[in-house]
Amino acid sequence: MGTMTLGPLQVTRLSLGTMLMGGRTPRDEAHRMLDRYHEAGGNFLDTADVYGDGESERTLAPWLAAHRDEVVVATKVGMPVSDPPGEGLAPDRVRAACDASLRRMGIDVIDLYQVHAPDPGTPLEDTLEALDGLVRAGKVRALGASNFPAWLLAWAVGLQERNGWAPFVSLQPQYSLVERSIEVEILPFCRAAGIGVIPWGPLGAGFLTGKYSRDTEPPAGSRMAGAGDDLEEARHRRAIERNFRAVDEAEAIAREKGATIAQVALAWLLGVEGVVAPIVGPRTFTQLEDLLGATDVTLTEAEHTRLAAHTPPPELYPYRMLSQQLGLGELAQLNRSRS
Ligand SMILES: NC(=O)c1ccc[n+]([C@@H]2O[C@H](COP(=O)([O-])OP(=O)(O)OC[C@H]3O[C@@H](n4cnc5c(N)ncnc54)[C@H](OP(=O)(O)O)[C@@H]3O)[C@@H](O)[C@H]2O)c1
Repeated sequence: MGTMTLGPLQVTRLSLGTMLMGGRTPRDEAHRMLDRYHEAGGNFLDTADVYGDGESERTLAPWLAAHRDEVVVATKVGMPVSDPPGEGLAPDRVRAACDASLRRMGIDVIDLYQVHAPDPGTPLEDTLEALDGLVRAGKVRALGASNFPAWLLAWAVGLQERNGWAPFVSLQPQYSLVERSIEVEILPFCRAAGIGVIPWGPLGAGFLTGKYSRDTEPPAGSRMAGAGDDLEEARHRRAIERNFRAVDEAEAIAREKGATIAQVALAWLLGVEGVVAPIVGPRTFTQLEDLLGATDVTLTEAEHTRLAAHTPPPELYPYRMLSQQLGLGELAQLNRSRS
């Protein structure tokens, strides 16, 4: 399925998200999905301590016992969990959470350790220094951030450089055809800084599979049916006309190519410069089987543009003024090294 570089790591272009494993996806099925993903050439697993309060990491443990050296393991810290109790990114917590994740997964090093979200209660320097300590201690190979705004990520990168601390090599933001806000600032910054983007929610939590329609209630048991209004995949945010148009377009292209809507939506993401590996989150073995076909789908530039036409990113100042009034639509690519 092809690979790309993420700092010191070589990862496949589809990552397997394990958020539902040990929860809505029973253990046996989760292990069959891990086998199938591995057999298809995938090597990049994403989990977090908060998924099922450790159950996702515990579900991975027996599978990793047999396959540890064949996969890149990414996990996260920062959301509320019971072991170690609490939340946030205070240095002691980060160190204790790392040890807890290692213990739950039965491994001795985490390949990619990600901060799950910013922690306004902890000075950023303190967190970054603690993360650097984990790399120096050999407990972590590389660092990543998730759900960071561009300015905070840029600030973190500056601090890491100035202090000689281990850098963030990846950002895990929400990104899909139905959520393109990162194109305004986050994605251009990541391209400029050489930070690989590994999108979560690449199918809009299932919206980009065609399972939802304008006229009917979300299917019982589906992600949207169970989503509270505050969640990103809430119905009021997802089930809107422009998003349905994007699905219609993906369906038309899928029909032309003999592919599925989900495969086309993932192929679109794979064609965005700066995207290293969408993190797919299938709930079932059958869903995974469908998604694995995405890396075989290639879109032409015209198809890529057709798909993107319905859901442009929000127009925000100063970008709106720079492009509409001053004709600076394509800001020059920043280059940190200037060489
Ligand atoms: N960093 C973060 O804050 C963050 C947040 C969320 C997720 N993540 C990571 O990203 C991964 C993926 O996120 P996500 O679950 O939101 O991604 P997603 O791939 O956009 O959505 C997954 C959902 O799509 C549906 N689906 C998937 N394949 C399908 C298919 N072939 N046919 C029909 N429906 C299909 C399933 O919905 P149903 O359950 O309705 O069938 C599944 O639960 C997670 O596992 C986790 O590792 C990170």
